[in-house]
Amino acid sequence: MARLALVTGGMGGLGEAVCIKLAALGYRVITTYSPGNTKANEWLVAMDRQGYQFRAYPCDVADYESARECIRTIETEIGPVDVLVNNAGITRDMTFKKMEKTDWDAVMHTNLDSVFNMTKPVCDGMVERGWGRIINISSVNGQKGAFGQSNYAAAKAGMHGFTKALALEVARKGVTVNTISPGYIGTKMVMAIAQDVLDSKIIPQIPMGRLGKPEEVAGLVAYLAADEAAFVTGANIAINGGQHMS
Ligand code: CAA
Ligand code: NAP
Repeated sequence: MARLALVTGGMGGLGEAVCIKLAALGYRVITTYSPGNTKANEWLVAMDRQGYQFRAYPCDVADYESARECIRTIETEIGPVDVLVNNAGITRDMTFKKMEKTDWDAVMHTNLDSVFNMTKPVCDGMVERGWGRIINISSVNGQKGAFGQSNYAAAKAGMHGFTKALALEVARKGVTVNTISPGYIGTKMVMAIAQDVLDSKIIPQIPMGRLGKPEEVAGLVAYLAADEAAFVTGANIAINGGQHMS
């Protein structure tokens, strides 16, 4: 039976590209959407027209009970998750001076707590079955910091601390845990940045002089999910057009 991949927040942006790539490689692919997302069905129909029969479940990744319930339903209706891609995330960019506790909490819950919430219900099963892949989508801004992102940079850096610790615990059990740190990719998250900020402050910092493409990140996810990446664990792989080299 084909491996089952779960991609959080797959209806658009990086997540959609990951769903399409994994499906093209023969995985059974499931994604999640925010419970308030009214366009989920529309997306499923559009994907079906392109030849992709995805399943999708509502899940607030920031909420532990919602995540547990989502995984329980997937396991009952489809089967155990072999590949988990923790992709869902948000930004609430503003200088620290303007940042309220709610802006901090929203970003920490959605980008970092979500990694615990989604990984906890699937990890033991992966270990018992002796095979699993956990792939966390962090950011170049978790590696280098970014003006206006003290919340986001903290959450994304935290993801990689989690990756390294869990990777140690499951290394002998056939389960790998890795972080991908994309640079600026042309999705709606980046398009929310004011054009003048993008043009004057961000693009000039990218040696390749362009935004990345979601498909480029999806290719890296596919590599980490594959059997041939079995010796890669606890890594933080940069994909950023040369913007940050560490
Ligand atoms: N570097 C240095 N100074 C900067 C700056 C930067 N990148 N951006 C703004 N400033 C300066 C301005 O020049 C201005 O200076 P003066 O007061 O001396 O004129 C000052 O900061 C403005 O401060 P404000 O608090 O008034 O800022 P603002 O409310 O106008 O905007 C901001 C602040 C919302 C953070 C805006 O700068 C911004 O959107 N920056 C981009 C943040 C960013 O890169 N986000 C990434 C989103 S995509 C993503 O997150 C994906 C990923 O993982 C890569
Ligand atoms: P995007 O287009 O804004 O997509 C974000 C996804 O996250 C959406 O599918 C959204 O689902 C989901 N999501 C948000 N909050 C959620 C919640 N509480 N519960 C469940 N799902 C939730 O952003 P993107 O650019 O594709 O980003 C995907 C990931 O890559 C994020 O983690 C982001 O931080 C990271 N990243 C992006 C870039 C970039 O330049 N674009 C660079 C580095 C890292 P709904 O639409 O259903 O709400």
